[in-house]
Amino acid sequence: MDFRELAEYRYSVRTYLTDPVPDDLLKQVLTAATLAPTADNRQPFQLVVMHTIARKDELRRIYDRDWFVQAPIVIGIVAVPSEAWVRSDGVNYSWVDAAIVMDHLILAATDAGLGTCWIGDFNPKEAYLVMGLPPEVEPVAFTPLGFPADEPGWKRRQPARELVRWERWEQDAQP
Ligand SMILES: Cc1cc2nc3c(=O)[nH]c(=O)nc-3n(C[C@H](O)[C@H](O)[C@H](O)COP(=O)(O)O)c2cc1C
Repeated sequence: MDFRELAEYRYSVRTYLTDPVPDDLLKQVLTAATLAPTADNRQPFQLVVMHTIARKDELRRIYDRDWFVQAPIVIGIVAVPSEAWVRSDGVNYSWVDAAIVMDHLILAATDAGLGTCWIGDFNPKEAYLVMGLPPEVEPVAFTPLGFPADEPGWKRRQPARELVRWERWEQDAQP
């Protein structure tokens, strides 16, 4: 797939095979994630790779869905704000960086024939406990990683003309 096809094909996978993820594919996906750009190249994140096989009940405390623990692997991305670039008005970019890293991971997984689903609606308290996180870091997102057992559906998106403005917020006419 070229990039356009990849972006069009990627979808949130919510049914997985239990087949293991080959080590070379896992390495490929993790390496792509670490190649993501981050503000001032600080890379203020850690990826936590968890095998579901013996941890299903524990991992379901983070996000309580059958399919979340159906794949062999769940990956969490954790921001480390103390290592991040901070804008002049005090905005810490660790979550922006973490989101870009997760997007690289998700697109690389799609390219490798693997499925993912960004999970933002997790239980933060349980995420700290299950991953053994220290208080100064922040869990940002999770995704299962495994071979899809479903098919992409129709992509429901607003047309670009609803989401793109030209030159200024208030505009007279679109080109
Ligand atoms: C920041 C973010 C948080 C999300 N959180 C969840 C979630 O908690 N549970 C879930 O099933 N899907 C979650 N999703 C997946 C979205 O629902 C999905 O990307 C969107 O509906 C578009 O569908 P598609 O990914 O199949 O193209 C999340 C996606 C993003 C980007």
